[in-house]
Amino acid sequence: MNDDIALQITPSAVGLGAEISGVDLNSSLSEKAILEIKKAWFDSGVVFFPNQDLNPSSLEKFTLAIGEYGKTDFIVPMDGHPNVLELRREPTETASHFGASWHSDYSFQESPPAATILFGHIIPPVGGDTLFADGRAAYLALSEKMQDFLAGLNGIHSAALPYAKDGFFGKDDDPSRSLKIIPSDRAKECQTHPIIRTHPDTGEKILWLSRNYTLGIEGLHEDESKLLLNFLCDFSTKEEFVYRHKWQKNMLTMWDNRRVQHFADGGFDGQRRVMWRTTVAGTVPV
Ligand code: SIN
Repeated sequence: MNDDIALQITPSAVGLGAEISGVDLNSSLSEKAILEIKKAWFDSGVVFFPNQDLNPSSLEKFTLAIGEYGKTDFIVPMDGHPNVLELRREPTETASHFGASWHSDYSFQESPPAATILFGHIIPPVGGDTLFADGRAAYLALSEKMQDFLAGLNGIHSAALPYAKDGFFGKDDDPSRSLKIIPSDRAKECQTHPIIRTHPDTGEKILWLSRNYTLGIEGLHEDESKLLLNFLCDFSTKEEFVYRHKWQKNMLTMWDNRRVQHFADGGFDGQRRVMWRTTVAGTVPV
C-alpha cells in the first residue's frame, strides 16, 4: 500500500481543473491518497494525472477505488470489459464527433454518475480537446432573484435527442463510426431533476442542465420552457465558466458530472484518437 506518497496538486488558472502528480495509479492507493484525490476533485471539478501507464484492467481498478461503477447506456462496451467504453475514432472516419454537444454524462438516468474517468490511450497531434463548464460558478453568477426562481424548478432529462431511433445517432447511421451506438426507443424515457442541485459532497448549489439531455422545464408552458432553457444553456456555458482541457497520451482525467458539463471539441479529422471511459455511480440529484 502506497501510504507515504506526496501528491502535488496544481490548480489551473481558471478555477476549474487541477493537475495531480506524484502518484502512480497502477499502485494500490491508500485510503489517505484516495481522500486527497477526491478532495482535489471536489475543489477543482476536473482532475488530471499525466504519465499514467494504464490498460483497461488497471483503469477498472482505479475506478473501483473511487466508487462503484455507474451504469453504461446505449453504447457497446469493450470486449471483456463491460464497464469500459472505448471512444475510438479512426483517421478514415467521417461520422460526427461523439460528445460534441454540452452534456453531463447520463443525466437522463435516475441516479446519474458522480464521476466520469477518461484515459487518453491514443491522442491526436492537434485537436481533441475537451471543454468543461462550471455549474457552480454559473449558479453563483446568477442574480439572487433568478436563483430563487429556479430553486423550485425541475428539468426534464432524456436521451432522446442523441439515442432515440429517430434521434441524432439513430438517423446518422454512418458505417464509418467505430463506436457502436445502440439507438433505442427506451431513450425517450424521461427523468426530472432539479435545475439547481445541491452537490452531495460539498453542499454547494450547482446550475445543472444541458443542451443535449434537458428537453424542457416541468410546469412551464412550452414557449416559456424553451426560452428559459435556451438562456440557461447559453449562460451556463459562457466562456468565463469554461476550462479547455488539453490531452496528452497516457493522461487520466476524472470529472465531476454533478458540477460540470463537458463538450468534446473534435478538430482532429484524419487522425486516430482512442480513449477508455468508465463512470462512477452517483445518487439521485436533489
Ligand atoms: C464524452 O463526452 O464523454 C467524451 C469526451 C471526449 O471524448 O473528449
